Amino acid sequence: MSDSDLQIAGDILEVPHLLQAPREHPVTVAEFAGLACSIAADRSQWEHLVAYDATTRWNHLLRTGPGYEAWLLSWVPGQGSGLHDHGRSSGVLTVLVGTLTERTGRGMRALSEGAQRVFAPGYVHEVVNDTLEPAASLHVYYPGLSEMPMHTSGRCAAHTDPRPVNA
Ligand SMILES: [Fe+2]
Repeated sequence: MSDSDLQIAGDILEVPHLLQAPREHPVTVAEFAGLACSIAADRSQWEHLVAYDATTRWNHLLRTGPGYEAWLLSWVPGQGSGLHDHGRSSGVLTVLVGTLTERTGRGMRALSEGAQRVFAPGYVHEVVNDTLEPAASLHVYYPGLSEMPMHTSGRCAAHTDPRPVNA
């Protein structure tokens, strides 16, 4: 049989039992990124929940699923996370409102609304709102964030508060 003999008879969409059932919850990196994109695109899911607090970093657990958490965070001008990693969690950071600056050992990048960063366990960064406008972001962690070890840098003293403060 040659390759040219291979054909799909009819319309594949007419035989749904042959298609992979859509998953209710994300499993792959692409699916977690897709989940974050879909939440970001539907402002009715999060816009009314976001609060800005000049005295402390604000966060809100938006959604949980099997093994993952989706957090809303807000950043008034000047607020930042400090340099940290995410323990054994992978994550997807998506900017919902405004612009955030991400600093890593390789440099810094501005993340404007809609920008997304995907990171693996052990990824070290610092997120700061360096602008004059408030910002908000969505953070999906898999597994859910259980620790956020702080790192010492030239700019920031080590943060010793054991409570996880997401970023
Ligand atoms: Fe982070």
